[in-house]
Amino acid sequence: MVLITLEGIDGCGKSTLFTSLQNSLSDTGTVFTREPGATWIGAQVRRAIAEEVDPITEALLFTADHAAHIESVIRPSLARGVPVISDRYTDSRYAYQWATLEGILPDPLAWLRMVHDGWTIPPDHTILIVLPVEVALSRKKEIGGKEHFEESSLLEKVQEHYLHLATEDPSRFLVVDGELGKEEMASLAERVIRDWCESSRSRRRR
Ligand code: TYD
Repeated sequence: MVLITLEGIDGCGKSTLFTSLQNSLSDTGTVFTREPGATWIGAQVRRAIAEEVDPITEALLFTADHAAHIESVIRPSLARGVPVISDRYTDSRYAYQWATLEGILPDPLAWLRMVHDGWTIPPDHTILIVLPVEVALSRKKEIGGKEHFEESSLLEKVQEHYLHLATEDPSRFLVVDGELGKEEMASLAERVIRDWCESSRSRRRR
């Protein structure tokens, strides 16, 4: 049916938006899911993030988790004809691993795309939340804890990469200001997602 992804740097407000959409779209039968996923593979990915494995291993683990996510959640849900919303998806790899693989591979984005080529399911729509890195990091500090991706120089690059991806594919991306109030952002996202679901239904009726 329709596959929608939420993307943005750590601390951008993506998870808050995801939780609020789970409530506001509860009448739609939408499947809510995330990467890294809830499987044992996702658990290994989280362990790898915590232990800081080398960047190639990490990129391939995230990609393995994506493959498992597609087979266990994304493909079956789309086949049932229900909308799917994923908190992080392929663009997380393109934006983050493009940054972590810089200096290791000559063209990280081309390599990442090649690794996904032929089996991934591209999203129909992506909501990208953008906000200044220092604001995102100060929000993270309030919550406590720090993962190794939460460094300002890395997140600056990651956000640049996200914006590059959005510029390349403007019809898929909706770029949202992360400094909007929580309620405003939630109602904007709910509105556009309902529209996307309706257009996908009417396309299928034709
Ligand atoms: P997650 O726990 O979902 O963090 P958040 O709540 O900020 O979304 O993801 C863990 C970290 O993994 C996060 O910093 C983003 C990073 N990540 C990648 O680097 N590549 C990927 O492909 C994915 C899915 C996540």
